[in-house]
Amino acid sequence: MREIISAVLSDDASSEDYAALPVPDSYRGAFVRKDEAGMFEGLPSAAKDPAKSLHVGEVPTPELGPGEALIAVMASAINYNTVWSSIFEPLPTFGFLERYARTGPLAARHDQPFHVVGSDLSGVVLRTGPGVGRWKPGDRVVAHCLSVELESPDGHDDTMLDPEQRIWGYETNYGGLAELALVKANQLMPKPAHLTWEEAASSGLVNSTAYRQLVSRNGAGMKQGDVVLIWGAGGGLGSYATQIALNGGAIPVCVVSSEHKAELARAMGAELVIDRAAEGFRFWRDEQTPDAREWKRFGARIRELTGSEDPDIVLEHPGRETFGASVFVARRGGTVVTCASTSGFQHQYDNRYLWMGLKRVIGSHFANYREAWQANRLVTKGMVHPTLSTVHPLSTVGEAAREVHLNQHSGKVGILCLAPREGLGVTAPELRSRHEKAINRFRSSNLP
Ligand SMILES: NC(=O)c1ccc[n+]([C@@H]2O[C@H](COP(=O)([O-])OP(=O)(O)OC[C@H]3O[C@@H](n4cnc5c(N)ncnc54)[C@H](OP(=O)(O)O)[C@@H]3O)[C@@H](O)[C@H]2O)c1
Repeated sequence: MREIISAVLSDDASSEDYAALPVPDSYRGAFVRKDEAGMFEGLPSAAKDPAKSLHVGEVPTPELGPGEALIAVMASAINYNTVWSSIFEPLPTFGFLERYARTGPLAARHDQPFHVVGSDLSGVVLRTGPGVGRWKPGDRVVAHCLSVELESPDGHDDTMLDPEQRIWGYETNYGGLAELALVKANQLMPKPAHLTWEEAASSGLVNSTAYRQLVSRNGAGMKQGDVVLIWGAGGGLGSYATQIALNGGAIPVCVVSSEHKAELARAMGAELVIDRAAEGFRFWRDEQTPDAREWKRFGARIRELTGSEDPDIVLEHPGRETFGASVFVARRGGTVVTCASTSGFQHQYDNRYLWMGLKRVIGSHFANYREAWQANRLVTKGMVHPTLSTVHPLSTVGEAAREVHLNQHSGKVGILCLAPREGLGVTAPELRSRHEKAINRFRSSNLP
């Protein structure tokens, strides 16, 4: 690995130099183990500690197939799917790998006793497989996490509809929390030149997801002036959704759970912020009974902030805890666009508010290549900024995932893989200096 790191740090290695670098037989990666998939059985979710299940160690380098690329990973990031993989909820991810393996001999590489996780990366292309023309060794890249086969006609309108669509590093092996990663070449996108490796690695998954949810015609089709209710505006998805809403001329109403995160939302430019903890919103009277009075109080609070307007769009992801409120507060004809159920996937809502209000619920999942590219383009142009708060070395990836699991973080938590320290990889310093303050808005902002 030392030769690879030297080539990247030298800044003047050619594509031929990279192609001549030896690829090691094994590399360090963060993985969960198949024989430990039952280790947390019987424990409540919050007691399942990713630091116990995420191991960092050597794994064999996979063979490179057609249409694929092997990447030297400089940095990666924790996503909530890293939490799901490492607490084995709602299912251990090994079932995904076994199913994938049954689709063909190349896919069989993914079924291993270990699962290298991680769905974000920034790095340098080391090798490309047969049939890859667009990318070459030495290209500085970020990767989005849609792995797709495209052999079925169903995926050719929107690749997210392909029946063999998978989230790389969650439903496939050889993910980004490692020194090397195996991706499909059509996951690659240019690395934003004004960002460090760790900043560049932090946006891909959440930024693309928020872009599809809000902007894409596959999502809510946001337009100027729309009021957009954003749950978790100080977290991963929400911090990008807030920026995307502001960029598009919409009016975000940011929900957070502390004054600290309220300040972060304001620092991004949001003016309307609700601190759900300080204002004591409790949408359930008990485990089985939603509290419609609280939905109404929440709706009234939104109207108070917006001058009596209801949200055109609600960006949903907390799930069970908030979904009933989201459906209630959306305006007549409005859209609730959901991509997750962090607090539970069995939702309850009052359907009268949906049909009588002619509202829509849209299911949204990650993004197709085009959407991910558009979202990355906004970062590349300095129109959306990373919300990186803290950075860990690969060796403490478990602790980093625990922070996210326990909601102790803000924005994104980065991981250094081959990058020997923070602050490296910037090749457009002028663009950076124009946006330095915005890029650093979330740095060191985690709660003590
Ligand atoms: N389908 C997809 O493609 C996709 C893509 C990305 C993420 N996701 C999913 O989306 C969810 C959020 O991901 P993320 O990266 O944004 O995670 P994150 O960084 O942990 O942020 C989530 C935010 O949600 C808020 N939150 C948590 N529990 C809540 C509750 N019970 N009620 C209201 N707000 C709550 C928290 O903010 P406050 O405490 O400040 O309110 C937190 O900051 C995860 O379940 C993830 O798996 C899905």
